[in-house]
Amino acid sequence: MNNKTINTSNQNSNNNNNNKILVTGGVGYIGSHTCIELIAAGYDVVVYDNLSNSNLEALKRTEQIAGKSIPFIEGDVLDKQLLHQVFDEHDFFGVIHFAGLKAVGESVAEPLKYYKNNVTGTLELLEVMQAHNVKNFVFSSSATVYAEEETSPIDESAGRSCTSPYGQSKLMVEYILEDLVVSDPEWSTVSLRYFNPVGAHPSGMIGEDPRGVPNNLMPYISQVAVGKLDKLKIFGSDYKTIDGTGVRDYIHVVDLARGHVAALNLIKKHTNIGSLGFEAINLGTGKGTSVLQLVKAFEISTQQVVRFQLTERRPGDIDAYYGNAEKARQLLGWQAELTIVDMCKDSWHWQSLNPNGYR
Ligand code: NAD
Ligand code: UD1
Repeated sequence: MNNKTINTSNQNSNNNNNNKILVTGGVGYIGSHTCIELIAAGYDVVVYDNLSNSNLEALKRTEQIAGKSIPFIEGDVLDKQLLHQVFDEHDFFGVIHFAGLKAVGESVAEPLKYYKNNVTGTLELLEVMQAHNVKNFVFSSSATVYAEEETSPIDESAGRSCTSPYGQSKLMVEYILEDLVVSDPEWSTVSLRYFNPVGAHPSGMIGEDPRGVPNNLMPYISQVAVGKLDKLKIFGSDYKTIDGTGVRDYIHVVDLARGHVAALNLIKKHTNIGSLGFEAINLGTGKGTSVLQLVKAFEISTQQVVRFQLTERRPGDIDAYYGNAEKARQLLGWQAELTIVDMCKDSWHWQSLNPNGYR
């Protein structure tokens, strides 16, 4: 047994006043924006990331925006020994767990890689947390956990089922958390189900930096606008939606980041009166926007032309989904404030200042 795993302190982090948060995957797209909002809200942040899908330049810029240096550990959540060391060295209030793989198509081709990274990785982390008596946990889930047949606006009690290994990995972690809080009521866990995160920090210094050709709509649109890609293929124009194109609930990444601060604040509030157990909360705007509406909004707000072509539906896509944002408003006191115009402007600002991302 590794000596470093022994926690000699009797202190229960659930009951202390410490503001230190471990952010796994904190160099990535959503994690970096969240570090900024956490620091602005008075939290101390330690980032743990294996850099498998990110670039340290993002952390450097995050520190510049936040005006504060951020302790960083390059490590994998599968490396339990290193995690124990990190928990020995720091007294955390809790963990926000972004670290994970997220490409749906890749998960179909390489399911074992996804289950190992996203499920086993989370299990290792939870075990280390438990050993160190740190039992406050915010998890990056996804609206993909909802069953396809659910009708929008989708609320948190809707049925869950997934088709891809990526989605299954998120759902499995939710089940694990649900069982964990039953076994040990000291845990406070919040599973944030994101709808479609887009946009970038308004400084234009950090943003989404997909490797290769983007799969998601907004980075594809901005890369067409900046001239890196020829034209957008709009997947399907015969859906039962306002204009035949797919409808989604796009949410600005800065709003999303603030939702994580609100989730931690909720956990903090509960540490005075017991723990929270498990809460699943949608982070979305509650509004749907079609592909064509997004393209038009992008063109108008950025004065750029986005060439597009209507093509076949993408296999696996559904016509429309958007979330019910009421639980977040009531429980977290949080709601999305930034508009589709903000999302387009900020995506473009980031893309035009950094045509090759962080490279
Ligand atoms: P991202 O790839 O930009 O960030 C994830 C970070 O985790 C990266 O920096 C990566 O290097 C790191 N990482 C991956 N595996 C790791 C491991 N085993 N150990 C340590 N670090 C590891 O992705 P993102 O868009 O910021 O997403 C963050 C989280 O939110 C992910 O869990 C993702 O599944 C989830 N999510 C994202 C979206 C989205 O559209 N971006 C939607 C729903 C849910
Ligand atoms: C995808 C993921 C989902 C993830 C979400 C947010 C799949 C099957 N699902 O969902 O798990 O939570 O991203 O990251 O990959 N579109 C085009 N042309 C393009 C790209 C997209 O027309 O080049 C359309 C799609 O058909 C869809 C909309 O734009 O109607 C949004 O697509 P996308 O950004 O990929 O997100 P989702 O499909 O919602």
